[in-house]
Formats: sequence, C-alpha cells, structure tokens
Amino acid sequence: MSLRFDGKVALITGGAMGIGAASAKKFCELGASVAILDRDAEAGQATVNALSKAGHTATFHICDVSSESSVRDAVNEAVQLHGAVHVLVSNAGIQRYGDVVNTSSSVWDEIFDVHVKGCFYATKFAIPAMIRSGGGSIVIVASTQSFTAIVSSAAYVAAKHALLGITRSIGLDYARQNIRANCVCPGTIDTPMLRQAAALAAAPNEVIDICSRMHAMGRIGNPEEVANAIAFLASDWASFITGTSLIVDGGLLIPTGGMGLQESGIATTGDRK
Ligand SMILES: NC(=O)c1ccc[n+]([C@@H]2O[C@H](COP(=O)([O-])OP(=O)(O)OC[C@H]3O[C@@H](n4cnc5c(N)ncnc54)[C@H](O)[C@@H]3O)[C@@H](O)[C@H]2O)c1
Repeated sequence: MSLRFDGKVALITGGAMGIGAASAKKFCELGASVAILDRDAEAGQATVNALSKAGHTATFHICDVSSESSVRDAVNEAVQLHGAVHVLVSNAGIQRYGDVVNTSSSVWDEIFDVHVKGCFYATKFAIPAMIRSGGGSIVIVASTQSFTAIVSSAAYVAAKHALLGITRSIGLDYARQNIRANCVCPGTIDTPMLRQAAALAAAPNEVIDICSRMHAMGRIGNPEEVANAIAFLASDWASFITGTSLIVDGGLLIPTGGMGLQESGIATTGDRK
C-alpha cells in the first residue's frame, strides 16, 4: 500500500490554477503522469510548462466541462496520449452569487452545467477507460457548502450538495469494478476564485480577514492542503474508503452557529486560547 502513483495517470479538470493546479503538482511529485483538462488554454499550458520544466510528465487538453462533446474529446485525447487513466479529479468550478429570487435561469444553468453536468461528463467518459486500466479512484471537489449554506449563493450551494449524491452513486455503482469515488469538501481556500470573489467587495483584504476568522484555526487554507487530501483519497492508503466525503476546512464547520459567539467571549468563562 502506497501513497505514491508511479506508473499511474491522473486526469484533473480545472487543473490550470488554484486547487486543480496544486493537485496536478502533487500527483506529479508522487510519481503520476498528469493530464490537465481546462477551458483556460493559456493558464493550463503555463501550468503544464512549469511541471515539465521540473521534470514531470504533464499534458494540457482544452476542455469546457459543461459541454459533453468537449469532455468526451479531451478525455479520449488524454487517455490515448497517456495510455490509461487511474485517477480522476473532478474539480473545475465557478462561483456566481444570488438567492433563488434574483438568480436568473441562465446563471442557475451555468452553475449546474459546470459543477454538476461537468462532473457527470468527466466521470461518464473517464470511468470506462478507468475500468480498462484495471480500476482507479475518483475525487470530486465539493465544498463545505455541500452541507451548509452561505447567503446569496443558492445555485452554488445546491450544485455542491448535488455532488455528494453523484459521489455516492458512483461509489455504489462501480465498487465491484475496483473504482472508488469520494469527495473533498474545502473551507475557504486561497485561490484565484477566492481572490476574484473578494475583489467584488469594497475592501477585499477585509473579506479575507473575515473569512480567516470564520475558521477555528484562524486562517484560510492553501491549495496544497486540499491537494494533500485529494491525493490521500486517490491513493491506495484510502483503499477501503468510498462514497464518502472528507472535510478540509480548518475547523470552519466546528462551532455551532459560527465563530461569532466564540469570539465574543460570552460563550465561555475561561480565556480563549
Ligand atoms: N477556493 C475556495 O475557497 C473553494 C472552497 C470550496 C470549494 N472550492 C471548489 O474547488 C474547485 C476549484 O476551485 P478554485 O478555488 O481552485 O477555483 P479557481 O477559479 O482558482 O480554478 C478553477 C479552475 O477551473 C477552470 N474552469 C472553470 N470553469 C470551467 C469549465 N467550464 N471547463 C473547464 N475548466 C473550467 C478554470 O479555468 C480554473 O482553471 C471548484 O469546484 C470550487 O467550487 C473552492
């Protein structure tokens, strides 16, 4: 049993930047060949170039996960090039804001097309190749918002909840074909997605500070910390783990009702460490 992926091939959607790029680097460092599938050709190629320069085997495949034919072509191209697939990280994602009243149908569809259909298509086309490769492991990047909600994020929250269902369905349907499926559920992670969201506010740094205080550990996470959890779930060390989720959130979901009461000091008679 090993945490390494020597001789294995990992496909990563949304691998051009953020959590996906950190995962690509992690799998490479652990011995895998990596195929990055992303709609951002410039960033994707730059990530692949950096990995190749460091001596790793990595390829880029243009892919819009919300398009069935695009995912089919990119997965087929990657599998043909690398000869197999043993790991799929379904990670590509976008963030849009709105409650159910002020979210338009097109924004709702956009979110579901990327997160839910994107995961559906990636798994749909990777699983047959994974079976031909002798089995493998799928890790879906969900969110703490798969269990809870933040205000004005109805479509995103609903889509991230749906990913728990896909994870369980695949875990059940393909267990006997030696395929495991799990998801990681990150708290707030310092990626381009977070920085873009913070930039919408008048004081972006304040948003980051508030996010940090929401986590029991007093800070947001970095993409490598999520990549470590993804690699663990994909590895043989997680050989009896399927259909479940691993929360990677620095304690964000620990305090009942959030950190406000804890920080106010009135919740305890003792000092907060
Ligand atoms: N950053 C966080 O705080 C956080 C927290 C919980 C969950 N997540 C989830 O983690 C995943 C990665 O997020 P991130 O923060 O690294 O985001 P990011 O914006 O930094 O990176 C997302 C990547 O996905 C790609 N992508 C977006 N839409 C695509 C599409 N239609 N087809 C192909 N590629 C597409 C982008 O080009 C980009 O490379 C997402 O699913 C996100 O919802 C992020």
